[in-house]
Amino acid sequence: MNNQARLLDLARAAATRAYAPYSKFRVGAAVLSSAGNFYSGCNVENISFPVGSCAEENALAAMVCGGDTGIAEILVYAEGKTLISPCGACRQRIAEFATKKTLIHLADVTGIRKTLTINELLPHSFAEF
Ligand code: THU
Repeated sequence: MNNQARLLDLARAAATRAYAPYSKFRVGAAVLSSAGNFYSGCNVENISFPVGSCAEENALAAMVCGGDTGIAEILVYAEGKTLISPCGACRQRIAEFATKKTLIHLADVTGIRKTLTINELLPHSFAEF
C-alpha cells in the first residue's frame, strides 16, 4: 500500500471514531511525518462547544507526542457533499510543522480530490518575529 492509500485508510478509520454528537460531522486526519511515521486524529467535540478540537489538531498532537516535528504529508477526510478544507486555526497549526514540500491532501469518500501546499492554503502567514 502506498503512502497516500495508507493516509486515506488511517484518516477514514479515525473519522469513524470521531466524537461529534453535536455537529454529527465526523472528521479524520492522518499525518506522515518527515521521519516516516504515521499518526492520526479525529475531531473531539464538547458540550461546551468552543472546547471541541479538530481532527488535524489531534493528529498533529499525536505526531508531536510521538517525537516528530515535521510533516511530509497530511490528509484530511470527511464524508460530505463539499470537500473539507482545514479551518484557519488548523492551517496555522499545519504551517508550524510544514515545509514548502509538505503535501496537504483533501479527501472525501471518493478519495483524494485535491492536494495543496501550505503556501496555497495559508499564504502570507505569520511566521518569524
Ligand atoms: N472540524 C475538523 O475536525 N476539522 C476541520 O478542518 C474543520 C472542522 C470539526 C470541528 C467540529 O467538530 C466539526 O468538524 C464541525 O465543525
